[in-house]
Amino acid sequence: MSLALPIRPRRNRRSAAIRDLVRETELNAGHLILPVFLQEGGTSEPISSMPGCQRWCLEELVKEAGEAHALGIPAVVLFPRIADNLKTPGAEECFNPDGLVPRAIKALKAAFPTLLVITDVALDPYNSDGHDGLVAEDGRILNDETVAVLCRQALCHAKAGADIVAPSDMMDGRVAALREALDMEAFTDVSIMSYAAKYASAYYGPFRGALESAPKAGDKKTYQMDPANAREALREATLDEQEGADILMVKPAGPYLDIISHLRGSITLPIAAYQVSGEYLMIKSAAAAGWVDEAKVVYESLIGIRRAGADMILTYFAKDMAARLRAGTVVR
Ligand code: PBG
Repeated sequence: MSLALPIRPRRNRRSAAIRDLVRETELNAGHLILPVFLQEGGTSEPISSMPGCQRWCLEELVKEAGEAHALGIPAVVLFPRIADNLKTPGAEECFNPDGLVPRAIKALKAAFPTLLVITDVALDPYNSDGHDGLVAEDGRILNDETVAVLCRQALCHAKAGADIVAPSDMMDGRVAALREALDMEAFTDVSIMSYAAKYASAYYGPFRGALESAPKAGDKKTYQMDPANAREALREATLDEQEGADILMVKPAGPYLDIISHLRGSITLPIAAYQVSGEYLMIKSAAAAGWVDEAKVVYESLIGIRRAGADMILTYFAKDMAARLRAGTVVR
């Protein structure tokens, strides 16, 4: 016997074919950006705080990026581990033209001219204090002095051939300053992907382990945002848009889907979301314990970020996800 029920939403879910037709959100390799860690020397090293990730030596970094690009991933973002003896209170190594990052940019662009190379602009890997900005005697993070150093860092990356610079420092006014510094030296085609809404998050823990870049004292709450705030994200994003950002980022991604959605509805710029190290590790460890199906949870986490409104996603799962998309083994 049937109910008199003319409206049955289940009709649109009754087969894989019809689900394909009505699916609202797509995920493909072109939406993914692979963050990569790198270090000096001739050998790569597994990262103990991030199982499945490596700190690559230059040669193997090029190989890894090539594999990602061959899978359809358009971009990588570079995170260097800087040797302790090069870390200083002024973070001068960050604008050394012969430093690890400029050499990596050159090697990557020479090997794969069509791969977009994105660099992180912030001082924490270079700063003996482990902060994204310069630290004053009394522990305060100096805004304007930091911005001047960030400009030198971004120019150094642009000169080496970076396509996009991504300031992750959360200092005030850095997007306008970077745009001006780049334009003055005729790098008008270098884009700025600003970490517009970057929260002071415990989900960054494993990443700081990977780079040995945790703050020596204090926390990052005077520059990164309070996880309780949403309106403030719109304020930050609006400023970055006015200052000339090309792409805005929300970070972390999963716990901040409402922020992604809010910015998507309010701002016309493309939105990036960063599925950070702690999000990666929670899925990895649950899967390693046999508690969740890694491939399915990864897809669901990424399609959720896309559905919230992110155009592109930085994720340590980028290669795995792209490989499954290519092989046609994604179960939707
Ligand atoms: C630092 C930076 C951080 C991440 C990206 N750039 C850490 C921090 O702000 O402390 C975190 C990425 C991750 O956790 O995956 N400028």
